[in-house]
Amino acid sequence: MSSPSLTDVDLADPRTFADQDLAAFWHQLRQEQPLYWHPESDDRPGFWVLSRHEDLLAIYRDTSNFTSERGNILDTLLQGGDSAAGRMLAVTDGARHVALRRILLKSFSPRALQPILERLRSATSELVDNAVRQGAADFAKDVAAKIPLNTICDLLDVPESDRPEVLRLTKSALASDTLEPDRMSEWLAKNDILMYFAKIARRRKGTPHSDVVSHLAVSSIDGVELTEDEIVLNCYSLILGGDETSRLSMIGGLHAMIDNPAQWRALRDGEVSVDGAVEEVLRWTTPTMHFGRSAVRDVEMHGQRIRAGDIVTLWHSSADFDERVFDNPGEFDLARSPNNHVAFGYGPHFCIGAYLGRAEIRAMLATLIEKVSDIRSTGGEKRIYSNFLSGFSSLPVELFPSSGPG
Ligand code: HEM
Repeated sequence: MSSPSLTDVDLADPRTFADQDLAAFWHQLRQEQPLYWHPESDDRPGFWVLSRHEDLLAIYRDTSNFTSERGNILDTLLQGGDSAAGRMLAVTDGARHVALRRILLKSFSPRALQPILERLRSATSELVDNAVRQGAADFAKDVAAKIPLNTICDLLDVPESDRPEVLRLTKSALASDTLEPDRMSEWLAKNDILMYFAKIARRRKGTPHSDVVSHLAVSSIDGVELTEDEIVLNCYSLILGGDETSRLSMIGGLHAMIDNPAQWRALRDGEVSVDGAVEEVLRWTTPTMHFGRSAVRDVEMHGQRIRAGDIVTLWHSSADFDERVFDNPGEFDLARSPNNHVAFGYGPHFCIGAYLGRAEIRAMLATLIEKVSDIRSTGGEKRIYSNFLSGFSSLPVELFPSSGPG
């Protein structure tokens, strides 16, 4: 991968991240231009770029000056807004955000998640067993792709018979493994998913279960029931928020073990804690490279003025490698402590699925420790194309069983 100079980098272009190593670019921004104006191009406006860890925390915390309601990722911010604003958790602020979050949190407490985590562990174990038995496998497609979405289907209590269709639709709605995705098929698939959840929500209203759709369907805010739109958008937001992110962190974690065999051996041999390893996998992979906000009024920062209405992007992929916060940030160190990464964001929008995301990575690492002695790349890995998510869509590997060659 090449290292580009500052002016060559277009952070809005998905190719930038697949083809180039941006470590030197981020280092330069953190050092010299912590508040950088990313110039406009012919077809889109300019936007601010923040790269230091402490600045991200400051903006995430500052809800009186910065809003998520005009979108929270670069693409929607550049398009001028998010049609789900004020209805879907991640793009809703203020009192309504607190109330919606409270409803959803019922399904995310460790107690509520317990049966889901039991299924997660047995599914992970089965998938790794199969991959070990086959010898060669694509860890991205054969193992990691099958875990988070099934877990979200458990959360939403999607009947087994509907799952292949929900999985198929999700894959076409969120395709990031090609450079030129078919926008029409994506849009149709997204519509079908929303219609599917609308149907499920109507059924659950009459006979609620203990799942997320039922919680949403029977809840009200200030005495007013949630609309079907709100129910459906918030079901979909769990797929948006929890599928690719967890998947990419598991795949990226395995990739890092292959690149750092001494770290894998330390994990396998119990020399580092699994919980600590989960945090380093999250920091190292930082699956969501950025989130964004819009300024609601003029704000001074680093001697410059962010104007009301400006787009402000917050780069986790820089902050999680900020030398002001992490010793030797370019080292994958499973024993790293403290490890205050921002992979799950910060402040009122801190990831609602963080406990579940961590549990998914932990289940994967624990299963690998139990069943695998050695991991080798067989080559041909592929990065995804995205200006928002980072990681691999394909990672062909050989997994050797615990009793095999090590
Ligand atoms: C919010 C990352 C897993 C659902 C967020 C945010 C980040 C994030 C950075 C903050 C967004 C913002 O400030 O605008 C991740 C990563 C994950 C993960 C890296 C896995 C490794 C999950 C899972 C779910 C989920 C498993 C659900 C099943 C959500 C939702 C929000 C959110 C609904 C919005 C929360 C709010 O606005 O209050 N996530 N996430 N995420 N995440 Fe996650």
